[in-house]
Formats: sequence, C-alpha cells, structure tokens
Amino acid sequence: MKIIVTGGAGFIGSNFIFYMLEKYPEYNIICIDKLTYAGNLSTLKSVINNPKFRFIKADICDRGTIDKVFEEVQPDIVVNFAAESHVDRSIEDPGIFLKTNIWGTSTLMDACLRFGIKRYHQVSTDEVYGDLPLDRPDLFFTEETPLHTSSPYSSSKAGADLLVLAYYRTYGLQVTISRCSNNYGPYHFPEKLIPLMIVNALNNKFLPVYGNGNNVRDWLYVEDHCKAIDIILHQGKIGEVYNIGGHNEMRNIDIVKLICKELGKTESLITYVTDRKGHDMRYAIDPKKIHNELGWLPETRFTEGIKKTIKWYLENREWWEDILSGEYQNYYKKMYKNK
Ligand code: NAD
Ligand code: TYD
Repeated sequence: MKIIVTGGAGFIGSNFIFYMLEKYPEYNIICIDKLTYAGNLSTLKSVINNPKFRFIKADICDRGTIDKVFEEVQPDIVVNFAAESHVDRSIEDPGIFLKTNIWGTSTLMDACLRFGIKRYHQVSTDEVYGDLPLDRPDLFFTEETPLHTSSPYSSSKAGADLLVLAYYRTYGLQVTISRCSNNYGPYHFPEKLIPLMIVNALNNKFLPVYGNGNNVRDWLYVEDHCKAIDIILHQGKIGEVYNIGGHNEMRNIDIVKLICKELGKTESLITYVTDRKGHDMRYAIDPKKIHNELGWLPETRFTEGIKKTIKWYLENREWWEDILSGEYQNYYKKMYKNK
C-alpha cells in the first residue's frame, strides 16, 4: 500500500504519518509539503530515515510537479491535509486560503483522475457548518447540517468539500471527506489557542483571550483524529462525509485557566483582548454516524490529553523555541499589538 499524505509536515499530518508508519510497517508513506511557515521538517525528523517514508517538498497548487509525483509514485490512496489552517490569518489575508485550500484540492484530484489513482480522502473541518448558539446545548452538527461558513478559512474549506463531492458525482473519483472538531496534541503550531497559551504561560507572557472567553470548541486529541481517518480509509463508504468529534465541549476561558493551573502560573497573565471578527460561538459534533457505521469512538479523555500535551511542550522546548525565533515573531507582533 502506498499513501500520499499532503501537509504531513504540519500538526495533524505529521501525527497521522507517525501513527500509520507505526501501525502498518509494510505501508509506504510519501509526504508532500510546501513547508510554509506552518510546516516544519524538524517535525518529521524521527521518520525521515525510515525506508518506508519519503519526503517531497512541493506545492499542491503546482500542477506540473504534482502530476510528476503522482505519475511516478502511483499511490493507492491520497490523503489531503495540506491547507492554510489559521482563521485569524484568513481574516487578514484570504487569498492564499482560496488558492491552497480550493485550487490545491482540485489540482490533487485532477492528478488522481489523470493517473488513475483510486482513492482520495479530504481532511475537512467542522467549521464548514458555521456555529451553534450558546443557549442551545441540545444542537449538534450532523453530516446533514447545511454548510454555513463564517470565516474565509471555513469558506475555503467548504468550497473544497463541495468540489470533492462534485468530482465524485461528475467523474466518479472514489472520495471520502472527514469533518473534525478542534484538535490538540504534540506539534501543534503555537499560533492556535492551546499551544499559544502553553508557550506564553511558560514564558510568563500575557495570555490573550478573545472577547469574553465564553466561545466553545469541541476538543479532540490528535491521535483520535488520526485513528478515525485510518478507519475511514479502510472501511469508509465511498462518496460519504463523516463527522469526527467527541462531545468534549469547553469554553476557551476554562481551557486557559486549566493550563495556568497545570503549569502553576498565575491567572493574572490572562488578558481579555478585542474579539476576533465574525467569531464563531460554539462548535459541537454529533459523532453518531462514524460510531454506528465504523465503530470509532474517541479514546483519550481531555483531562489526560491536555496533561500529555503540556508534558510534550515541556519536553520539546527546542521545537517551539525555534519556531518562536523565526518569521512567526512578525506575525505575533502584528496580530496582537492592537488587541
Ligand atoms: P497546519 O497548518 O499545522 O499544517 C498544514 C500543513 O500544510 C503545513 O505543513 C504546511 O506547510 C502545508 N501546506 C500549506 N500549504 C501548502 C501547499 N500549498 N502545498 C503543500 N503543502 C502545504 O494544519 P493542521 O492543523 O495540521 O490541519 C491539517 C488539516 O486538517 C487542514 O486541512 C485543516 O483544515 C484540517 N483540520 C484541522 C483541525 C485543527 O484543529 N487543527 C481540525 C479539523 C480539520
Ligand atoms: P483556534 O485555536 O484559532 O481555533 P479555531 O478558531 O479554528 O477554533 O482558536 C480556538 C478558540 O480560541 C477560538 O474561539 C478563538 C480563541 N482564541 C483566543 O481566545 N485567543 C487566541 O490568541 C487564539 C489564537 C484563539
């Protein structure tokens, strides 16, 4: 089995590669990544010399290169994680989100059609459903919930999802889509809530909470997401969408306070800052379909997962300190100076 994994130098893609190489030592995994600010080759250092692993630096929008790679590798499956993934950046500059997330997806699927690649999986997000009100805890996102996006990021991901379904219906490409809730765990880029709060707290820097901190996200440990994708690749029904999430809703402020507690830091570091534009209130997944049809359930409880995650950031300072010393500095100054 040969699997092309795009975006494998990022957070979830790298965790997926580690999981698959460990679980299926006979599989070949070929990672394609452009190494944007969010992709880090050092993340893949533990597998880079594995004979079953190969890294190719390429842009998923670059048709010529993608065609060449697909023709040469002839993968059995393509799993597309590559994306611009940060909502705040999409609000500042939507263009690259449209390019990578929509154009890149179609480039990959065109290559699948051209070279007879049988199976394509799109890694999508629950953000395509928009948000739920805080005063309706009875509501959840199902696969039938209409797409109703808020940010340029979620709109670009929804656009990609629609294209994937169009390639299924129009060209018969064998596709599946997974829509997952917020992930957390090792190698999470420190611009996202949980890793940002961990590294800022460790550096005794202020902890910027948007608005009143009451926004709710449904958190899933990254390995549980990887397991769900593995099951969909092997048992999922072609042409179907699967929601992935685990009834683990938390308010942002409670997560930040929990991180302070775990690290023995004072809550006076918490600073309420100007809210994100168009800020989604609540995400909550109904995972019945993947549970009933494919037998998947999350395995890591949040209390355990957050401890593992914090421990990882404590033990892997070099990884995130390298990131903090680079281009990310400019983004951080620009992003938080007016908040
Ligand atoms: P990430 O930003 O950490 O990683 C993205 C990776 O894609 C990086 O390695 C980057 O270099 C690469 N990339 C970006 N543009 C590229 C291009 N044009 N060509 C090739 N590679 C490119 O993102 P992540 O958090 O790991 O998310 C992975 C996928 O999962 C995304 O599609 C995202 O929408 C989806 N997702 C993320 C979450 C979450 O909580 N992080 C939840 C649900 C779904
Ligand atoms: P984020 O990790 O960016 O994920 P997403 O917006 O895709 O859900 O943000 C998670 C939540 O945390 C979201 O409600 C915005 C909030 N947030 C802050 O309060 N402060 C921050 O500095 C960041 C990055 C996010």
